[in-house]
Amino acid sequence: MRRKLIVGNWKMYGRLASNRALLEAILAGVRELRGADYAVCVPYPYLAQVQSLLQGSNVAWGAQNLNQYEEGAFTGAVAPGMLTDFGCSYVIIGHSERRGLFHESNEIADAKFTATLKAGMKPIFCVGETLAERESGVTEQVVATQLDAVLSHAGVQTLSNAVIAYEPVWAIGTGKTAAPSQAQTVHAFIRERVAKHDSQVAQSLCILYGGSVKANNAAELFAMPDIDGGLVGGASLVASEFLAICRAGARA
Ligand code: PGA
Repeated sequence: MRRKLIVGNWKMYGRLASNRALLEAILAGVRELRGADYAVCVPYPYLAQVQSLLQGSNVAWGAQNLNQYEEGAFTGAVAPGMLTDFGCSYVIIGHSERRGLFHESNEIADAKFTATLKAGMKPIFCVGETLAERESGVTEQVVATQLDAVLSHAGVQTLSNAVIAYEPVWAIGTGKTAAPSQAQTVHAFIRERVAKHDSQVAQSLCILYGGSVKANNAAELFAMPDIDGGLVGGASLVASEFLAICRAGARA
């Protein structure tokens, strides 16, 4: 039985004062929710604040990106070891905003995936198709290519320390959620593809759905057999919304 995981992706939102209020409300709400795991992935400057507020709680934390190199002359970049210095457990890798806005290729996503694992953190590896790709019927092909970048290079065993997030690009920040059955089809496809390499790894692999997960659709998404939780953007910035999603995860 896989445990549900609910991860907040704050993106480029937050300030010291609002972070504190949000995290205190989340902590108060999830303290008794032992049925699932929870995490927030926050902007780099707030990692120290988040670490001091969440340490010892049942909410883990992480970052939204890293640089694949251990150190060096990379102005503006953040190394994996800098994230472990602040207690990060997770790093989001290959988010469609990184792939699209920052031109990150499958090769770069794969290198960052490996760097995250090497530093002892769990990558949350994002895959997903655009609307044009879905409409031209190549969803599975696109997801397979993104997944294979990791499978063929890092190897299937690395997935036992990783999380996959299926995030259809057309559902991110648009309020358009994939129908639970639509998402389930792609999640099952991902699990089957991993199972071709190793069925045990596939069975225990945590596959999150992301793309306009809200309080009012979380329960039906999490009821799908291959949806193991959510990567939540906008709704993770509102304590009552995020908590309702966490409760749906704990009950599922
Ligand atoms: P959203 O974002 O929930 O705001 O659609 C999800 C994500 O980008 O991870």
